[in-house]
Amino acid sequence: MSVKFDISFAKSAKIDGGLAIQLKLAGDGPAAGAAEADPEGVVTRAAEIAKFSGKPMSTLDLIAPHGSPADRLVVLGLGKAEALTAYDWLKAGGVAASSVKSMTRVAIFADVPGLAVGGAQLAGFALGMLLRAYSFDTYKTKKGEDDENKAPKTVKVTIVTAEHAAAKKAFAESEAIAGGVLLARELVNLPPNVLGPVEFADRAKELEKLGVEVEILTEKEMKKLGMGALLGVAQGSVRPPRLAVMQWKGGKPKDAPVAFIGKGVVFDTGGISIKPGAGMEDMKGDMGGAAAVIGLMHTLAARKAKVNAVGILGLVENMPDGNAQRPGDIVTTMSGQTIEIINTDAEGRLVLADALYYCNDRFKPRFMINLATLTGAILVALGNLQAGLFSNDDTLAGQLSGVGDVTGERLWRMPLGKEYDKLIDSKFADMKNTGGRHAGSITAAQLLKRFVGETPWAHLDIAGTAMNSPSSEINQSWGSGYGVRLLDELVRAHYEAG
Ligand code: BES
Ligand code: MN
Ligand code: ZN
Repeated sequence: MSVKFDISFAKSAKIDGGLAIQLKLAGDGPAAGAAEADPEGVVTRAAEIAKFSGKPMSTLDLIAPHGSPADRLVVLGLGKAEALTAYDWLKAGGVAASSVKSMTRVAIFADVPGLAVGGAQLAGFALGMLLRAYSFDTYKTKKGEDDENKAPKTVKVTIVTAEHAAAKKAFAESEAIAGGVLLARELVNLPPNVLGPVEFADRAKELEKLGVEVEILTEKEMKKLGMGALLGVAQGSVRPPRLAVMQWKGGKPKDAPVAFIGKGVVFDTGGISIKPGAGMEDMKGDMGGAAAVIGLMHTLAARKAKVNAVGILGLVENMPDGNAQRPGDIVTTMSGQTIEIINTDAEGRLVLADALYYCNDRFKPRFMINLATLTGAILVALGNLQAGLFSNDDTLAGQLSGVGDVTGERLWRMPLGKEYDKLIDSKFADMKNTGGRHAGSITAAQLLKRFVGETPWAHLDIAGTAMNSPSSEINQSWGSGYGVRLLDELVRAHYEAG
């Protein structure tokens, strides 16, 4: 069931029924809030009997014992103090959210004896709760007795801590991040009949409410710019393409922006090189890169990030049709370079070739990072636990790997190189859009690299992580929203003023 957590922070809470959650380190130490939630010390005895030792993310779930003012007690293990990371706080919040079940009032005791718990940790914990609460049930219509699909129930959550003021302040940023991640998840989950390029562009336009400047380029304008590669992909669809250009101006007026570019193929049939039927429905998620970029722009604007940021979405549908592009076609990109189409299913790189060039040409950004569900080959290489990272800049690559570890949205760097670049040379044009069976993710990246000039650039191949990744403490949805937290943290740690 979908849940809405109404989270506040307070110095103390009077428990009168409901759920009390106590955080606890591994070992013998007491759980937070023992005096309030468990004045008679029953939890200690229960923990002994249940052999509950406070291992990370484990829970002890009890009907509240006689003497406790709560109805239910949950003890949530955090593991060892010295091993506790920012990502663990997020996960702990997710576990807390999952243990709420039917309760509608929750007090969470967060001041763990022997642990320094500040605003940042508490805001991370609360963010974990918000992320875990999301589920995509818009199209479940059954309303029954144990209706799992009725309007979201609201759960009142009080996080009890001496650091309530700092936590409340930091939590405003958590709400901005959750808003961005949940937006990205929602767009990935939406069915492709409902979310076409035009509808996606409309969603970008909605960011104007947050102070983002948004321009939507139509087919006509893209033709004028010479975006032959993007338009070639779109020409087989009755739904016209769009290029969304979003600008958040939170930095100094003269500062060059940071730029994020997303592959937004709202549905990828493969085109004339059509995909096999099995699993094709998953290709509604082929706009996961664009979803991450719009989610990120939402987050940056909602938290009023002190940075200038550009977000660009290449929005198309890849369909087979009498007017679709063919293998053998040669398209001219906005950069002037030509591409021979070998396989119409290698369409993401064509969309990005024009979007990247446009971005670099118009904005002269400090760096460009593109996100794309680009290749099945990245799933073969890395599975669905890490995204592939390709970059022409070691500093940027290092920063990305670093924030990947901090946020848990992990990246593994893959190679680029002249030898690989040869694989996409074409007999008839400047390059071809596929390089054969081997090194499929790398040759795709090599093509993108030809459109970024000297600008520091990174390509994140998120085909494995944007959707269908394993459920976790903080995500139970098919669309993961991968990339939003990662890039928000990159901006925060390395590119934001003051
Ligand atoms: N959208 C796909 C890649 C993909 C595969 C995303 C699985 C998510 C899950 C992309 O457009 C594609 O079809 N790539 C081809 C490239 C090939 C034709 C060179 C692929 O990976 O097979
Ligand atoms: Mn494809
Ligand atoms: Zn695709």
